[in-house]
Amino acid sequence: MAVLKIARMGHPILRQVAATVTDPKSSQIQTLISDMIETLEDCGGIGLAAPQVHVSQRVVIYAIPGQRMGREGEEGVDVPLSVLINPRLEPLGEEMDLGTEACLSVPGLMGNVPRWRKVRLRALDAEGAPFELEVAGFHARVLQHECDHLDGILYPQRMTDLTSLSFVEEARRYFGQTAEH
Ligand code: NI
Repeated sequence: MAVLKIARMGHPILRQVAATVTDPKSSQIQTLISDMIETLEDCGGIGLAAPQVHVSQRVVIYAIPGQRMGREGEEGVDVPLSVLINPRLEPLGEEMDLGTEACLSVPGLMGNVPRWRKVRLRALDAEGAPFELEVAGFHARVLQHECDHLDGILYPQRMTDLTSLSFVEEARRYFGQTAEH
């Protein structure tokens, strides 16, 4: 296990479309997952996509503490650490929410990003087994943010009004806002 270096905005790997994982059980992918978990624990973020640790493969991990889930009106239930391999998202309905996001690859900044309110996720888990999930609110937001990384998209590219793009310190100081992850 190892804590990996995080790629920051401007690094070309964050602009690439990541490759589909062909063998989820390979030692390369299993080591990558272990290292990503250790890296996320070290950074204290909510989610991490493989391109953020300089690996252009379609792997995402995330875990959501219950108090974060409560912010947009969902039940305050923890989402345990989840591993997504080759995830695909499909919006359910047309409703969108505007919510605050931050990103380990865009350190120190935060901004308001429109996202689908509800999505259906289809992915493989860490053992390569397919599963399906329907989620809403902040959970759906996290999935959209992380899956965007696999397509070379960072959250500022999804912002429709750059007025809210702020340094976390200043947003906290003047608006009482905190970064979501
Ligand atoms: Ni991110």
